[in-house]
Amino acid sequence: MTTNPTPYPTLVGGPGLAQERRLVTEIPGPASRALHERKAAAVARGIGTTLPVYVAAAGGGVIVDVDGNSLIDLGSGIAVTTVGNSAPRVAEAVAQQVGAFTHTCFMVTPYEGYVRVAEELNRLTPGTHEKRTVLFNSGAEAVENAVKIARSHTKRQAVVVFDHAYHGRTNLTMAMTAKNLPYKHGFGPFASEVYRAPLSYPFRDGGVDGGVDGRAAAARAIDVIEKQVGADNLAAIVIEPIQGEGGFIVPAPGFLAGLADWCAATGVVFVADEVQTGFARTGAMFAVDHEGVVPDLIVTAKGIAGGLPLSAVTGRAEIMGAAHVGGLGGTYGGNPLACAAALAVIETIEQDGLVDRALEIGKTMTERLTALQQRDPRVGDVRGRGAMLAVELVRPGTHEPDATLAGRVAAAAHAQGVVVLTCGTYGNVLRFLPPLSITDELLADACDVLDAAFEAVR
Ligand SMILES: Cc1ncc(COP(=O)(O)O)c(C=O)c1O
Repeated sequence: MTTNPTPYPTLVGGPGLAQERRLVTEIPGPASRALHERKAAAVARGIGTTLPVYVAAAGGGVIVDVDGNSLIDLGSGIAVTTVGNSAPRVAEAVAQQVGAFTHTCFMVTPYEGYVRVAEELNRLTPGTHEKRTVLFNSGAEAVENAVKIARSHTKRQAVVVFDHAYHGRTNLTMAMTAKNLPYKHGFGPFASEVYRAPLSYPFRDGGVDGGVDGRAAAARAIDVIEKQVGADNLAAIVIEPIQGEGGFIVPAPGFLAGLADWCAATGVVFVADEVQTGFARTGAMFAVDHEGVVPDLIVTAKGIAGGLPLSAVTGRAEIMGAAHVGGLGGTYGGNPLACAAALAVIETIEQDGLVDRALEIGKTMTERLTALQQRDPRVGDVRGRGAMLAVELVRPGTHEPDATLAGRVAAAAHAQGVVVLTCGTYGNVLRFLPPLSITDELLADACDVLDAAFEAVR
């Protein structure tokens, strides 16, 4: 057995940590590098690492590493710690639940926490119709179950997804995900009856004003679906209202509504994958709220439980009821600790006004990123909503993607203690997902670091 040789003290995370960017070693420092060597010797190499600083504590807007560096977090563990790491209500609720019971399996001897989370999701998700909810562990698992439910309800098999989509890494969700490397390469054969339609991508469709408007883009997609699949064969359309891994692509207004209207007219189940966009992230409780679209089923995960593994499918009672008794479930789905965390997350979002906080963060960052775009022609597009923002990097004067630049700017920001992520089919998008618990001062400092990173990388 390997004992832990790293000398760092155990820190208490949460917002009580000093909210500052503080570098005391190079990034990554020696303790992180030592751990990274152990990782290489112990962990399968298929698990990549964005930034090999090993975490000792996190909270508010910072991550403190094992060398004592304090980094600004603009990633939230990929849109998970929306309420902040070790957020006080979450930490307390989980600690209480650990002391009561950790697991019984909801399918064996149920408990109230699961029922309360279902009630809350039925209340919070768009639409006033009667709803039901079922809980799982991961986003991919919930997406798979949304497809099972839609197939069971419609007695049809086909599923339509979109260009640039990301829905997960299980077999069905790999088929639904668009990008080959790193998600799918060598892992086939993939599930059948999955079809891909064109997305509305304003930057690459020629611009919101000059290009394909949302309704026209929906008509283009529907034409492909009708010709290549046929509504009578189609169980569900599954779409991210703002694409996440695909590049934070916000479809032109009217695109989602056009698809939803067509689904309503043809009996196809309209599924919104809000795994990345849900729970206040975009400055609304759910991203479809910005467009006034009411999905038949909505899939949630990530930000729902402040870092504990939980996901859900919520939707129209008559659709959710199609699967037979015993047809849905799993050992850990709706684990009591994750449910306690989710209830605390929802309370935190509502009591602390985090939907408005996401809008504020969005306004501040958009101003900074737009100013950057005005002086740097390599920034082709600034987009996103609320605290889900991105810049798409191109060769000046063209739409040609510049993935190398995105990687170099991210590396320069990392070296100065700001955690940023890249994404996009072309790998040329820098994305920003700060926890909503970040302070204005940290946000401004992170924007300064980004500006300097663009200056430094020529
Ligand atoms: C939109 C979307 N759907 C599904 C998933 C898969 O979620 P998980 O990684 O929890 O399986 C993700 C994860 O990034 C996502 O962004």
